[in-house]
Amino acid sequence: MRIFLDTANIDQIRQGAKLGVVSGVTTNPSLVSKEGLADYTAVVKEICSIVPGPVSAEVVVEGVQAMIEQAREIATWAPNVVVKIPATADGLEVISVLAKEDIKVNMTLCFSLNQAILGALAGATYVSPFVGRLDDIGHDGMELVKDIVDVFKHYQLSTEVIAASIRHPEHCVAAAKAGAHIATVPYKVLMQMMHHPLTDIGVTRFLTDWQRVSPQ
Ligand code: G3P
Repeated sequence: MRIFLDTANIDQIRQGAKLGVVSGVTTNPSLVSKEGLADYTAVVKEICSIVPGPVSAEVVVEGVQAMIEQAREIATWAPNVVVKIPATADGLEVISVLAKEDIKVNMTLCFSLNQAILGALAGATYVSPFVGRLDDIGHDGMELVKDIVDVFKHYQLSTEVIAASIRHPEHCVAAAKAGAHIATVPYKVLMQMMHHPLTDIGVTRFLTDWQRVSPQ
């Protein structure tokens, strides 16, 4: 399973990139507005320059033609940009047009296996089931990830599954076990994935013991 960072915070992306485990970034309008960033284009271009892997940027208009035009524009921002299109009927039409133009699409706001199948058939490069938001309404978000992975495998569909709306490190464990190709995680969760109190205690103990025997 690969790891993407789910953020529009440039400092976090720079820091995450240094760790050598982040192979892409996903953003959305809410994440951009959280950072108070006015110039969406500039932000996405900067992220694309920091991370060589796929960077998802979402269309922020409605209607088939408007989405197609904005997606084409976003696709010119950087070679590694991926356009996020919502899992609606309009979105499906947009995805099938963009796929024919070799524009990479991440079908976002995916909440059902049916949406995922249609997204893959339309030619989406990625589909993003939103795990946390399904959990929020009492469904098992990770079951959806598992179902999508299984069905895509069964029919040899090349669309990759991004486990999104990840809220805590256990979601990452479950996404890996479910066979998600990618988990897109907030920076805080990335740090939590690496942290273990026994590692910290062990490091302190080794250093303390080493002080006892090392020459003064
Ligand atoms: O990757 C999608 C993500 O940004 C949504 O997360 O926590 O708002 O459901 P959340």
